[in-house]
Amino acid sequence: MHILRQVGQIRQIKQIGQTRHFAQTSRHSQVLRVLGLESSCDDTAAAIVTSSGEILSETNRHQHAIHSQHGGIVPGLAANHHLMNMPLVVHETLKAAGLQISDLDAIAVTRGPGLPASLAVCMSAGKTLAAVHEKPLIGVHHMEAHALMARMGAEDKVQFPYLCLLISGGHTLTLVVHDINEYTMIGTTRDDSIGEAFDKVARELQIPWIDAQIGGGAGPALEQCALAGDPTRFPLPVPMDKADSAGSPDFSFSGLKTRIKRMREQALFDPLCAQDQADVAAAFQMTAAKHLRKKTVLAFRRARELLQGQPLSCLVASGGVASNLAVRQVLAGLAAKEGVELVCPPPSLCTDNGVMIAWAGIERLRRGLLDPYTIDFIQRWPLEDLKQMGYTKRTSSF
Ligand code: KG4
Ligand code: ZN
Repeated sequence: MHILRQVGQIRQIKQIGQTRHFAQTSRHSQVLRVLGLESSCDDTAAAIVTSSGEILSETNRHQHAIHSQHGGIVPGLAANHHLMNMPLVVHETLKAAGLQISDLDAIAVTRGPGLPASLAVCMSAGKTLAAVHEKPLIGVHHMEAHALMARMGAEDKVQFPYLCLLISGGHTLTLVVHDINEYTMIGTTRDDSIGEAFDKVARELQIPWIDAQIGGGAGPALEQCALAGDPTRFPLPVPMDKADSAGSPDFSFSGLKTRIKRMREQALFDPLCAQDQADVAAAFQMTAAKHLRKKTVLAFRRARELLQGQPLSCLVASGGVASNLAVRQVLAGLAAKEGVELVCPPPSLCTDNGVMIAWAGIERLRRGLLDPYTIDFIQRWPLEDLKQMGYTKRTSSF
């Protein structure tokens, strides 16, 4: 059934004039193989993934060590490092899989949203590889890739429609995922994203970033620090919990961050004292998770109204912050109450990576959602715009 569906789609792509090479490769191998490239922020990543959900190879060069000295991501530095790293990352990924570009069915690349100069690197690399080798090109929406990641190897469980909580450094969203390319946003942040809040609070608490090799960055550092903390010693108010905003499914994290900043200014805790650091980190993490929980309950209600009796298959949590185990625990409890399962990609696939871009590429390739070689990057790109933007069902992109 699965393979039949793929073959059907491959035929469809062929009919609309896909390159001969693509049709031949796909017909013989049946399982699709897609290279995904990502450089929208501070990770230079590539992966080759199959339509049966197998990761053939994966490479990710983080820049945490470079940006940690500046207390945040410096766009120019990020782009320079992507430029240096991208050729090596692509080379290593192909080599590790024992494949050449000619063996692939398509090249998927993050098209946006993200830092312009960083996006330009993966776009340029992906477009050039695709054009030179006459391979289909798929421009991937970074948030769609996060939202679809949980389906890889679990398509029976994560069926459309499902509710997705997308919690990353760039976004905090609840979405109904109706289908590939089709999303309804229910709640979004009114100010900072949850990832930004983790990062800023970690800075306020002067928690050193964890080494890149073990999944670096400020968020994981705060999570680790909070393990030794008492979350009740510094009680913090749950954001948007007052009568005027309690009914809104939107999020807000800047108040929480500012509160902790004020506490430090008023010397209510000492960031140089390890126990204070851990207790404030634990209080912040618990309060942020409670806020997510309350707003996700509202999102479930709205999603069910919208779907008019059509059931949600599960709750997916994805994006960098979904790798946080304390957050996952809270969300798992909520999902159980809502009568669905919480499905999260493994932590390394929650944060930015090439696998999610390759997998989103596979999902779009199966539907014939291809792009011309002339596409450019899109810095700001609401996920709901995907549907009306459409795609190009054709081969020759010049
Ligand atoms: O999805 P992602 O890798 O990049 C974006 O698309 O933004 O998310 C990065 C964000 C950063 O703010 C990082 O600190 C946060 O996710 N993050 C975490 C954890 N791992 C990554 N936050 C809390 N706990 C974690 N374990
Ligand atoms: Zn991301």
